[in-house]
Amino acid sequence: MSFPEDRPRRLRRTPQLRRLVRESRLCPEDLILPCFVAEGLSEPAPISTMPGVAQETLDTLAARAEQAAEQGLGGLILFGVPAHKDARGSSAWDEHGIVQQALRRLRSQVGDRLLLLADDCLDEYTDHGHCGLLNERGEVDNDATIELYGRIAVSQAEAGADVIAPSGMMDGQVAAIRAALDEAGKTDAAILAYSAKFASCFYGPFREAADCAPQFGDRRGYQMDPPNRREAMRELELDLLEGADMLMVKPALSYLDIVREARDRFELPIGCYSVSGEYAMMMAAARAQAFDLRSAVMESHLSMRRAGADFILTYFALDICRWLGEEIG
Ligand code: PBG
Repeated sequence: MSFPEDRPRRLRRTPQLRRLVRESRLCPEDLILPCFVAEGLSEPAPISTMPGVAQETLDTLAARAEQAAEQGLGGLILFGVPAHKDARGSSAWDEHGIVQQALRRLRSQVGDRLLLLADDCLDEYTDHGHCGLLNERGEVDNDATIELYGRIAVSQAEAGADVIAPSGMMDGQVAAIRAALDEAGKTDAAILAYSAKFASCFYGPFREAADCAPQFGDRRGYQMDPPNRREAMRELELDLLEGADMLMVKPALSYLDIVREARDRFELPIGCYSVSGEYAMMMAAARAQAFDLRSAVMESHLSMRRAGADFILTYFALDICRWLGEEIG
């Protein structure tokens, strides 16, 4: 029903009015920056399709973490690029592994000023590039894999991770990780589950960034089929029942309907991951002068918050903080 006196434009008249009635906002503390840390590098190695993002050395990572803490960012999530890969991905749970080294260094440097998250998966560490152990038929063995995810989680928590984020989409991974953490006395380590992670082409640049493209086949046997909404709800609910503390949807932009439905259905904090391909897409379009980068990044990330995401993992986290600091309305 509409009345002649209905004038919604009244509240759009000035920047101050628009700012007052804005229903969704971006804040530094809602943003988590994904970082790649590579073993044996002496200089950061740029990622060709992600201008501005690089594989970091321990030193350059420490500088980023300092910057993130100063800006009041929500946190930083670490992905490791190990020097040594094997069939089991054994560097992933090595107490001297690159992520474990990085966690110790960052924890002693930033103390409690910055939340540290660690991705728990095997694809960056296996020579075949799959997210789990393979059986003799070359298929990922679910139950052997989740046992290793438990080991990885314990080594990361012991090195100082506040939050463990399993991204392999194995069945039962959250329960296995919770049990392993509890048994190791790491009852305070929280789990952010990549619950509804779709088999997406938008992970393309990440596979260069983390050097983890599968050497044969693809990930469709464990990651979700993009058309499935009801199945995503089932995955989210299973992770909640297995003891996840926070749930995540990934990628973000093509899956905002899933974010919204998850927000409406579950009480846990919900995050979304704006992935490497989303970053690459916006950078490429902005460079081609299709639009202004800052406007595109702010609009798209606000749409993730409007869809119901409590927090966002995004390669633009530090840029957004800088732009928020400059904003007037
Ligand atoms: C797997 C993992 C991937 C991403 C995060 N964790 C890649 C994949 O599943 O193929 C993708 C993140 C991105 O694209 O930014 N450990």
